[in-house]
Amino acid sequence: MPKKSVRNVEIKGKKVIARVDFNVPLNDSGAITDDGRIRAAIETIKLILDKSPAKLILMSHLGRPKGQVVEKLRMNPVAQRLKELIGEDVLKLDDCVGPLVVSQITQSCERVILLENLRFHSEETKGDESFAEELASLADVYVNDAFGTAHRAHASTTIIAKFLPSCLGLLMEKEVSFLSTALSPEKPYVVILGGAKVSDKIEVISSLMNKADTLIVGGAMAYTFLKAEGQPVGSSRVEADKLDVACAILKEAKEKNVSIVLPVDHLVVDRIDNPSSKKVQTVITEGFLGVDIGPATIELFKAELKKAKTVLWNGPLGIFEQTDYAQGTKSIALYLGDLSGVTVIVGGGDSAAAAKEFNVADKLSHVSTGGGASLEFLEGKELPGISVIAEA
Ligand code: 3PG
Repeated sequence: MPKKSVRNVEIKGKKVIARVDFNVPLNDSGAITDDGRIRAAIETIKLILDKSPAKLILMSHLGRPKGQVVEKLRMNPVAQRLKELIGEDVLKLDDCVGPLVVSQITQSCERVILLENLRFHSEETKGDESFAEELASLADVYVNDAFGTAHRAHASTTIIAKFLPSCLGLLMEKEVSFLSTALSPEKPYVVILGGAKVSDKIEVISSLMNKADTLIVGGAMAYTFLKAEGQPVGSSRVEADKLDVACAILKEAKEKNVSIVLPVDHLVVDRIDNPSSKKVQTVITEGFLGVDIGPATIELFKAELKKAKTVLWNGPLGIFEQTDYAQGTKSIALYLGDLSGVTVIVGGGDSAAAAKEFNVADKLSHVSTGGGASLEFLEGKELPGISVIAEA
């Protein structure tokens, strides 16, 4: 059943409280290094403002301050960036609940108010009812647009919906729509899985095993699969305790006629911090470890992707954060950006960062703003921040 949408909710003259995910990366001097999550909420913010609310109160967490005030995790840089993006003043408060917050909201001349980091209160992550009720008392309508945090049953993402009429924001709707496509794809369906650990992806693999035609595996998790197949992997990163899981996945894929495509060559080094030792090997020798897919693998993966109507990409194919080891991830990202007539969906987290790094994010059908949330969605789990919203 579809959920109530912010598009269809009466907002004029009402106070609206919207949960957004402004959990953006900061550098050592506290500056935002990627404002993508703030940008992703702008459409909803503008839609709400166009509907003439009395106030729009925005709330988010930033980092994991564990119930304490951590100065460098205050929302101030976010407020500044938000103000630039919406071209309107934003009143940033120094707390998110309490009498001072209530009076500041009442007396403010700004329409847009940003509350302080919700996680300065331990009640937020505990899903505390009274805290949720206090947040709810600030407004008349609740909008949840925080897809990145929709897998958390926290006070501001889930519990608050008990106390106010609730609806989903536009980003939430877009995320749900694209990630649902990844669960009911147009075929042929090719899934690229990368990243360090098989253990992080076991549930998503079993969910996608029943849907995908081809599973391309790269990143360090490929070495666990290669080892499970009995291939030498030198000193590459392997999850020894997940070899049986990798074997079971390979067996299940064969039974279900899903083709698993593993790397056929590798960029290897003798130590990660010694890029000058890098070379390409088809069989990894002792004393070397894989840090990226090799050139033949890049071509092999492209040939598989060429057959697809739908592609899901989750996890980088090498240590792309280091330029010396970025070629595999970069080549595949650029190739995905050039595909036409294909729905390409990028799960959040590191693959989203890679899509941005290589300037292809705008060419892809959808780049999720959620890391853990998109993974849980793709695993087929219900996300509490979505299921709690009233039905349309
Ligand atoms: C994220 O960055 O994945 C979300 O903002 C959720 O953050 P959390 O993992 O700290 O709950």
